[in-house]
Amino acid sequence: MLIKKPDDIKSSEITPQSIYEGRREFLKGAGIVAGASLLPGIATAQVGAGLKAPAPAGLQASPAAPWLREKFTSVSPAPDAEPFFTEEALTPYDDVTRYNNFYEFGMDKSDPSSNSGEFKTDPWSVEIAGEVAKPGNYTLEDMLKPHDLEERVYRLRCVEAWSMVIPWVGFPLADLIKRFEPTSKAKFVEFETLVDDDSMPGIRSRFAIVRWPYREGLRMDEAMNPLTFMAVGLYGQTLPAQNGAPMRLVVPWKYGFKSIKSIVKINFRETMPNTTWVDLQAREYGFYANVNPAVHHPRWRQDMERRLPQTLFDRKVIPTLPFNGYGEQVADLYKGMDLSRYY
Ligand code: MTE
Repeated sequence: MLIKKPDDIKSSEITPQSIYEGRREFLKGAGIVAGASLLPGIATAQVGAGLKAPAPAGLQASPAAPWLREKFTSVSPAPDAEPFFTEEALTPYDDVTRYNNFYEFGMDKSDPSSNSGEFKTDPWSVEIAGEVAKPGNYTLEDMLKPHDLEERVYRLRCVEAWSMVIPWVGFPLADLIKRFEPTSKAKFVEFETLVDDDSMPGIRSRFAIVRWPYREGLRMDEAMNPLTFMAVGLYGQTLPAQNGAPMRLVVPWKYGFKSIKSIVKINFRETMPNTTWVDLQAREYGFYANVNPAVHHPRWRQDMERRLPQTLFDRKVIPTLPFNGYGEQVADLYKGMDLSRYY
């Protein structure tokens, strides 16, 4: 994100105000409200039948442990309404899995899907540390066993001003956190991604700008919010490596960079953690990173977004909403805070 050339939205691409008065009407007008005919590639459900977004027909499942695949045979479908589901059209599977940010595999959008062939997620373990009654190293199976999987269809808004609608599979982060019994001193949760030189070419690259491991964090009340999701799959299937296998965070009201991938450590802290993008450029990226159309990034305006996929002839530019449209669920978390200062 830091070193990309400006990718701002040209004024000629902006849909006139009159068209999008009432966002839903606009979305309808732009043909991006969901409907069976708007889900390319999802013809006959083969995996995850009954889900709002089953796997595209004929899709090869991503490599995953057999016990994890077994868990995917009983995923509860997303409900019919916001906030855990949106009627906006899904971003097709191919775009969700081929247009990625995962710098451990390279800087270009296609690098994560092209360069993650050597990435192994079995065995996998996660360290739980800091202010909890039950710290330790847990196998992925121990981490996930007690949790029933559910589907959620969320908007994902990247600070680079593109957005997608993705059907995740996972469970609420709050349910996981409670099992480790955080102490009263746990005010923040810090997450870290795996660092593996052998399977992650972006880490070996001399052009890498990130100080590994990739780190992110949430305030404890943000982590416990019912929207905050630990994803282990998308489109009814286990996560592909490029989307953060075997387990990644999804925080839909924050810019995408908060949604850290391939988690190997969860640390409960009394103080605010130092996170990757704040570390790189604190003037441009804040700890909170709430989607906010009123606070622009120096290189990407934040009041509009390009909904992917786009073609030369079909560019969907839509208004960005405060908290990415999840204000009703989360605005209270920031009551009394100046959000232009705590961006
Ligand atoms: N997590 C790790 N470990 N490394 C990364 O480079 N990129 C972030 C986030 N999580 C990133 C990461 C950014 S900038 C975004 S926009 C989202 O992942 C993209 O998620 P997606 O590729 O599944 O759409």
